[in-house]
Amino acid sequence: MEKAAMKFLITGGAGFIGSHLTDFLLSCGHQVTVFDNLSWGKKEFIFHNLNNPRFKFVQLDLLAYKKILENLDSSTDTVFHLSANSDIMRGMDDPDIDFDNTLVATFNLLKAMKEKKVKKIFFTSGSGVYGNIGTKFAKENYGPLLPVSLYGATKLSAEALIASFVNLYDFQAWIVRPANIVGTRATHGVILDFIRQLQKHSTRLRILGDGKQYKSYLFIDDVLEAFYLIWQKGREKINLYNLSSESFIEVDTIAKIVISEMGLKKVKIIKTGGKGGWKGDVPIIKLDNTQIKRLGWKPKFNSDQAVRKTIKLLLIDAETSSA
Ligand SMILES: NC(=O)c1ccc[n+]([C@@H]2O[C@H](COP(=O)([O-])OP(=O)(O)OC[C@H]3O[C@@H](n4cnc5c(N)ncnc54)[C@H](O)[C@@H]3O)[C@@H](O)[C@H]2O)c1
Repeated sequence: MEKAAMKFLITGGAGFIGSHLTDFLLSCGHQVTVFDNLSWGKKEFIFHNLNNPRFKFVQLDLLAYKKILENLDSSTDTVFHLSANSDIMRGMDDPDIDFDNTLVATFNLLKAMKEKKVKKIFFTSGSGVYGNIGTKFAKENYGPLLPVSLYGATKLSAEALIASFVNLYDFQAWIVRPANIVGTRATHGVILDFIRQLQKHSTRLRILGDGKQYKSYLFIDDVLEAFYLIWQKGREKINLYNLSSESFIEVDTIAKIVISEMGLKKVKIIKTGGKGGWKGDVPIIKLDNTQIKRLGWKPKFNSDQAVRKTIKLLLIDAETSSA
């Protein structure tokens, strides 16, 4: 079922996933406005769209409520709300980062949407809402939800705010809890970290934790298709979906692939130890993806393929930018 051209707002649209989503929605013929404060996002990720008459970029911080109100077009069909603190580790040193950029920002956005009568929101939550539940598969109705990071806590709180706006003000919501997403334009994450470390010192690599962290990875193209499908097919007032593949990969294996793809030998691995990479890291997370599969979605790339493809692409990017 293809929809006619529509007007979308993407918050965080200059970031990794948001900039790819921008390209994807423009390629489907839609109009896209991006709000981003460029704290992590980069203008170069959206630069190629600046002359497109169906694209608009507004540099804006979602903590500035009045600015959102001034710039939110009341004819927007759906807001894809991606802006947040996306780096779980950063929340440990500075608890305000998650509280402000994930929770307060979501509240400001919802208030402005209510004011402008824009009532459809697609929210990228995260697997962090489930907390540390070991090897159990988490279905969307798993509980109790006890996050172990401020990232997870504020994503869960933002989901709760969205649910209350659905009930009180007749909003419709699509809430997605994705596994790790990888691809070009990554702004952070294990692959980028390993590449950067090895570019600096080609003989040593520091791995946070014991290297046995075991997670599912999705390639960005699979994610964009899933987002669009969920948005097209989700007809409930609240449409809640896990998003993951059924394959997993260990951090140790990611390290080995990066080292081999960079053509390096004799790299000394230094592990910081402990099960998680940092306090608040969830070393094993398994998301049940029955619901999203029922929509007809199947990832083209498993975790191993997604990781390998991303490493190759990021290395090509690094080569091109240093040439
Ligand atoms: N990348 C993943 O593996 C993954 C997995 C699950 C969920 N998510 C979620 O998906 C979303 C996008 O993630 P990403 O990996 O593209 O991260 P990203 O950091 O590349 O993108 C987030 C964007 O939000 C912007 N932003 C942050 N605070 C803002 C504010 N106060 N006002 C305006 N803009 C602000 C940043 O500049 C950045 O461009 C995030 O909500 C993240 O939590 C990501």
